[in-house]
Amino acid sequence: ATNQMWGGRFEKGNSADVVAFNASISFDQRLAKHDLEGSIAHAKMLTHTKILSETEGAQIVGGLEKLLKKLTTGELTFSDTFEDIHMNIEHLLQQEIGDVAGKLHTARSRNDQTATDMHLFMKDETVQIIALLDELLNVVVTKADANVNTLMAGYTHLQHAQPISYAHYLMAYYEMFTRDKQRFETAYHSTNQSPLGAAALAGTTFPIDREDSAQELGFAGNYQNSIDAVSDRDYLLDFLHAAATLMMHLSRFCEEIIQWNSYEFGYIEISDEFATGSSIMPQKKNPDVAELIRGKTGRVYGSLFSLLTTLKGLPLAYDKDLQEDKEGVFDTIDTVKACVSLFTEMLATIQVKSDKLAASLQDDFSNATELADYLADKGLPFRQAHQVVGKLVHYGIANNLPLQKMPLTQLQEFEPLIADDVYDVLDPENAVARRISLGSTGFEQVKYQIKKAQKKLASE
Ligand code: ARG
Repeated sequence: ATNQMWGGRFEKGNSADVVAFNASISFDQRLAKHDLEGSIAHAKMLTHTKILSETEGAQIVGGLEKLLKKLTTGELTFSDTFEDIHMNIEHLLQQEIGDVAGKLHTARSRNDQTATDMHLFMKDETVQIIALLDELLNVVVTKADANVNTLMAGYTHLQHAQPISYAHYLMAYYEMFTRDKQRFETAYHSTNQSPLGAAALAGTTFPIDREDSAQELGFAGNYQNSIDAVSDRDYLLDFLHAAATLMMHLSRFCEEIIQWNSYEFGYIEISDEFATGSSIMPQKKNPDVAELIRGKTGRVYGSLFSLLTTLKGLPLAYDKDLQEDKEGVFDTIDTVKACVSLFTEMLATIQVKSDKLAASLQDDFSNATELADYLADKGLPFRQAHQVVGKLVHYGIANNLPLQKMPLTQLQEFEPLIADDVYDVLDPENAVARRISLGSTGFEQVKYQIKKAQKKLASE
């Protein structure tokens, strides 16, 4: 036998390299609190079901609670020798209360234990991320509310398309982040099942009560199949997918912030706190925070794909490959939390240059659709109207003359249906105001959507 906890059937021990390679304590110590909580619930259940005597149960629970206190005061130290967080804690418990500690692992395996720890941990982390998303949503809606009347060009193909309200643009991100929140809530639900009691893979001969431990731990229910319980990592994929999509949204927003903050656009100014200077060019103010959020999207995608790849082709039930489920998820949690909270602060402090935004509509052709609609309204088939306006735009570009600055007689040379009332139609503010379809950029629609969002956020 070797002196490992599982050393009974071994003649030779592992080399130092193998010990280090196999060990997960360097990262899974992050689960210490949840491992202790899972063990406390397990010990209580073993006591309720009389698998442990009252005295044994009390000793074990008492010891684990002591360890929990020591954990918060930083008095616990872990070691590679004990491989992972589960065996480190069992060892610490043994030092705390003696050999009775060995009874804790009755009717349990590290396979259901590590799954339980991760489920508990992920529930806590997901709740925190949802709270951060709520703060972000609040900032987006507050900014939208203050900018209903701020006009800008809406883009397609990064070309001026049609005039819109800046609030409408912001509210598009409200919708995206709301869906992100729903995706994290979905991930929370798939995490909210207890694998504890599945043991190694086949369940146990001891008369355990899984309802008891699941309830003690605050799970909504139990995994119904012990093989699935120890091998399922779908809940982590749900989380990583929610994170990847959220990062994609943040990255798109950041890309626009970076562009708009440039000299060429000049639509916004990022607050100094979220920019940095150059070591050589004294004039520089670079949007590093936005760039880093955009950049960190890559590692979050990587974690999603790395876990998908780890799981692909894995035979049931537990394989050591599954220990690889943690680092990418931990990194994703840290990345997402930092990105969402920094982005929220950056967005809240961004200065919008509404005059610059409005000025960009003065000499462009983003009101061309208005003119085509106007002619269609007067009875010209829309395809014909489109042709006429196209020719007008061509003429306007050649003569450096936006539609609204062309004299009526000139407009009428292209199309006699055009009358004096056309200038109202060409006005960008009217272009926005006249849009009344559901979900459009019309001021009334945008106000309605903002009200709805404010009510929803206040009720959550
Ligand atoms: N550290 C392991 C993990 O994270 C715990 C489970 C080990 N189980 C086993 N049979 N080796 O997956």
